[in-house]
Amino acid sequence: MAKVQSRFVCQECGAVMSKWVGQCEICKAWNSVVEELDHPKAASQSEHVPDDFFVTLSDGINAAEAAYTERRKTRIEELNRVLGGGIVDGSVILLGGPPGIGKSTLLLQVLTEISGASAFVYISAEESINQVLLRAHRLDLNNDQLKIASSANIHQIIGSLQDLPKSSIVIIDSIQTILSDLIQSPPGNISQVRFCTQELVNFAKKNDVTVIIVGHITKDGSIAGPKTLEHMVDCVLYFEGDRSCDYRILRCEKNRFGPTDEIGVFSMTGHGLEEVSNPSAAFLSGHNDQVSGVAVFSGIEGTRPILSEIQALVSHTNIAIPRRSSVGFDTNRLIMLVAVLSNRCKLNLSNKDVYLNIAGGLRINEPAADLAVMASIVSSAMQKPLPKGSVFFGEVSLSGEVRPSHLSYARCKEAQKLGFKEIYCSHKTEDFDKSSDMRIAKIKTIREVMGILQRQLS
Ligand code: TYD
Ligand code: MG
Repeated sequence: MAKVQSRFVCQECGAVMSKWVGQCEICKAWNSVVEELDHPKAASQSEHVPDDFFVTLSDGINAAEAAYTERRKTRIEELNRVLGGGIVDGSVILLGGPPGIGKSTLLLQVLTEISGASAFVYISAEESINQVLLRAHRLDLNNDQLKIASSANIHQIIGSLQDLPKSSIVIIDSIQTILSDLIQSPPGNISQVRFCTQELVNFAKKNDVTVIIVGHITKDGSIAGPKTLEHMVDCVLYFEGDRSCDYRILRCEKNRFGPTDEIGVFSMTGHGLEEVSNPSAAFLSGHNDQVSGVAVFSGIEGTRPILSEIQALVSHTNIAIPRRSSVGFDTNRLIMLVAVLSNRCKLNLSNKDVYLNIAGGLRINEPAADLAVMASIVSSAMQKPLPKGSVFFGEVSLSGEVRPSHLSYARCKEAQKLGFKEIYCSHKTEDFDKSSDMRIAKIKTIREVMGILQRQLS
């Protein structure tokens, strides 16, 4: 095979250089030079065009619908949910996550049973065959169809997969350790990662085989070669969570065949990952009503309500600019909510540090969490616990108005299921089941809710 030539191009001004430099010689931009590949041009301009090159809508739609509605279900229900029902044949899925979070474990467990899949292949470029076998033994896996190999050469890997039947599942662990000798840069480099992914995508589409690629996340939280990889594949999943706690969350960032807002919850045990079928109960397991700075939030992840515990700590500081720090919640939003509290409710936080944490390693992106976050901050500032058995949800605007949130009925229902007695939400929230003994406190402005809370707190 002809060697692929590479050149170094500044992404700012387009200048071409023969070697990598930290600063572009022309426009002086730093870190803008990226290696690009020059593929040798085909000798002939006119390629052979197959007969079925174009498909008309009326001919193609039935076949396409059948292909995309038929999904292969794995034994792991939480994974099926995140994928929008199951695996679509011929798709390429990228599973990203920090090292040690459990990506290899999850994928090995997936390979035990997938409805209608013809063959299962697990290729590890990081571990030896014996290491994978030992892990499979630890997980008590039982699948005679499963083939395991250890290789880091993309051409050898693709060559070994040529005879695979349609609807097979191939796992490549991980893309950062695979390399092609056509490219001079080391494994993990952007050109290598991009080239190897493209080869795998071509292989998957041509042979109708599903390829699941593992990708490690870099320190700043993106998969190496970030955006380029994301648009090459059909589906991007992130496996995240706090390694010091047992819960792991599988989140979908992109899905060409389904929704992207579902999450799957797992817990890491001594014998692999186990599904958590009732995440609300799991995230609240350490909940103690009698602690100040703790509020329960009824959130929605995809189609599923999940209750979580929001913890705030407000402490005195002598530094001129007090700290606002959060884990699992957007820090800029926290700063905004603190400003609303100071301005609309006259709560003086100018000499106080505010720390926020979402228990269990959960990450909350919903604006509906505003009310719960603010309630936990007030509770901590006043050093009094919030009313026993209370749940909060509702977005808070800059004017201090509490705004309604979608799926409020499901949020209330989940809180009721878990034995909560009181819900604080927007005045525009639709009525909940009148026959239930749940008290719904409808709030118009954040000032009003502060008043109620202050009365309860005193
Ligand atoms: P692993 O799947 O190797 O992570 P990744 O592929 O994302 O780097 O998981 C490694 C961690 O999981 C390691 O700390 C050990 C732990 N683990 C268990 O707790 N139980 C198990 O049954 C297995 C297989 C791993
Ligand atoms: Mg691994």
